[in-house]
Amino acid sequence: MAHFTVTPLGDALGAEISGVDLSAPLAADVIDRIKQAWADHLVLRFRGRILTDPQLLAFTRHFGELDPPGPNPYGKPFLSEFPEINVISNIKKDGVPMGNLGDGEAVWHCDMTYIESPPRGALLHALQIPPEGGDTFWSNMYLAWDALPDAMKMQIDGKRAIHDATYNSAGMMRKGMQEVTDPRKAPGAHHPLVIRHPETQRPALFLGRRRNSYIVGMDLDASNALLDTLWAHATQPAFTFRQVWQEGDLIMWDNRCTLHRRDSFDPSASRLMHRTQIKGGKVAPYEPAKLTVAS
Ligand code: OGA
Ligand code: MN
Repeated sequence: MAHFTVTPLGDALGAEISGVDLSAPLAADVIDRIKQAWADHLVLRFRGRILTDPQLLAFTRHFGELDPPGPNPYGKPFLSEFPEINVISNIKKDGVPMGNLGDGEAVWHCDMTYIESPPRGALLHALQIPPEGGDTFWSNMYLAWDALPDAMKMQIDGKRAIHDATYNSAGMMRKGMQEVTDPRKAPGAHHPLVIRHPETQRPALFLGRRRNSYIVGMDLDASNALLDTLWAHATQPAFTFRQVWQEGDLIMWDNRCTLHRRDSFDPSASRLMHRTQIKGGKVAPYEPAKLTVAS
């Protein structure tokens, strides 16, 4: 039996796992219990020593197939030896960014939902952190759905929204994109606003990112008003967990039932994270009626 502890990090979501050495091979029962804790708490934090890149990759592979980073704005992987690893950093070497997202705020989003099959989750490992700022927040989209008034649940169930591919969460235009003037024509996947989580079967609000979002079939102004309401609801502090980073922290999050954002930090400070992500599948609508149909 695996001996480690799972300590919730707040009321909404998040738990710290302690007593596991991530640099060593892990037994199957340890992995199973981590998976269970992940399903229960959505965001897991491991606090400890800095892992090597191969150790980070090996740990990630326990939870599924590696999903390589999205298109790199600079045309080639940040780490040529480990192209499966993404770098999140504001550090520049000879004037060239070593990683993504810079030092500004990264607005609320989930990762790469502009594609049909977004990643199921991601792992972010802190190698270097600024003395202050750059905190990351996650919000629980099961709670957000559960707490919606029934009238609003009925209003959005069955509807789809556009998850815009144009900009990343730091506001940078992705390679090959053009400015969007009409969100109804924004490029990007159309996903159900309420999804059924493939492992837990629980319904979750699935918003993606606010910029250029549009609820398909609605009048544009009505869509904007409804989206603003949903976003304000989904990101309220009662549903969130705040991560104040320490070097060596490793955080893994479920990308189907959480949103995240990051605070800005002092541009003269250095922040360096190595990041992996896990392949996911097409997200399925909640469709509560189907629950009663035995298969
Ligand atoms: C990410 C991300 C936030 C951060 O890696 O997907 O949004 O804290 N990072 O750097
Ligand atoms: Mn992100």
